[in-house]
Amino acid sequence: SKLASCLLSKLSEPQATALNKVTIVGCGDVGIACAVTLLTQRVTHNICLLDVDEAKVQGEISDLLHGSKFLEYPTIVGGRDVALSINSRLIIVTAGVRQKEGEPRLELAQRNADLMKAIIPDLVKFSPNAILLIVTNPVDVMTFVAWKISGLPRHKVIGSGTNLDSSRFRFLLSQKLGVSPKSVHGWIIGEHGDQSVAIWSGINVGSVNLKDINPDIGQNNDPEKFGKIHEQVVSAAYEVIKLKGYTNWAIGLSCSDIVKKIFSNSNAVLPLSVLAEGQQGIDVEVYLSLPCVVNASGVTHIVKTMLTVEEKGKLKKSAASIFKVQSELKL
Ligand code: NAD
Ligand code: LAC
Repeated sequence: SKLASCLLSKLSEPQATALNKVTIVGCGDVGIACAVTLLTQRVTHNICLLDVDEAKVQGEISDLLHGSKFLEYPTIVGGRDVALSINSRLIIVTAGVRQKEGEPRLELAQRNADLMKAIIPDLVKFSPNAILLIVTNPVDVMTFVAWKISGLPRHKVIGSGTNLDSSRFRFLLSQKLGVSPKSVHGWIIGEHGDQSVAIWSGINVGSVNLKDINPDIGQNNDPEKFGKIHEQVVSAAYEVIKLKGYTNWAIGLSCSDIVKKIFSNSNAVLPLSVLAEGQQGIDVEVYLSLPCVVNASGVTHIVKTMLTVEEKGKLKKSAASIFKVQSELKL
């Protein structure tokens, strides 16, 4: 404007795009929880929101920008046009249908696979170097579909997986033990959802493996019935969906945590959905969660977790259930 040119004397053109651009596809309850968490936790200040519902995106962008004074100079763009996502460093995909009350995640597979087919190629065209973080359910199957369609290397296509289930597990264990969720080192691997696997053999607090105190922890004959905690992890989303219709805050926090650990090149170990063929005796091409090393390249290593025979068996069952749904998809 005229006033601006009287106020400021220009020395050079400002940079058009900032670094660390994150595109969030799907501006629903999960997409917005991701955006708010990324912004308030200062993981990025540069967000693109994409949704087919143009009015909703514009409303969310305005509402967020009106809070700019309380954030770190955010740049938020968005709309229906995928071109707006150009040069993203990371793309979070949350678009798609969600479960109705009592509906299993795996029943969403074909509808959301069709959506992946429609959106992934253009996203990759505009950001060929981006890391894809898939959240849409069933997340393990959708991450596989996105990987196949994208043509990207496996280490750059990851699913939010059981990072969320593991957080639920640690929260519930922390309540039972009276120590912080950050100090209960417990892991859920396998499918995000009904066939997830709790690694009871490797829960650790302050160097103590809980199995050394209670050798039957998590098993049917466990006198303290810790197995109930895993049942609660599996039913957690169903409970929240029954109460409020959807889940969004915990997954938003989980995604922000994953992006932070990627952007900071942290080499942190997180349970994420990765192509698991060849790991832990899995001989089919499926994505499921295993403890992974994450950094600016994406996922560079998978931890060779030492599972018991029983845990390994459950993981193979988890892989088989994902593979079955995957094989029935029309791609
Ligand atoms: P929602 O209905 O609130 O939002 C979905 C959004 O996707 C809508 O705004 C819709 O307009 C948009 N959309 C549909 N087609 C699109 C397209 N082609 N391009 C861009 N946007 C499009 O649903 P939600 O609660 O945000 O859930 C979204 C997905 O995330 C669901 O599949 C849900 O099951 C999943 N989810 C996964 C986890 C996890 O841990 N992996 C956790 C919670 C939810
Ligand atoms: C979750 C979603 C529904 O919150 O997958 O677990």
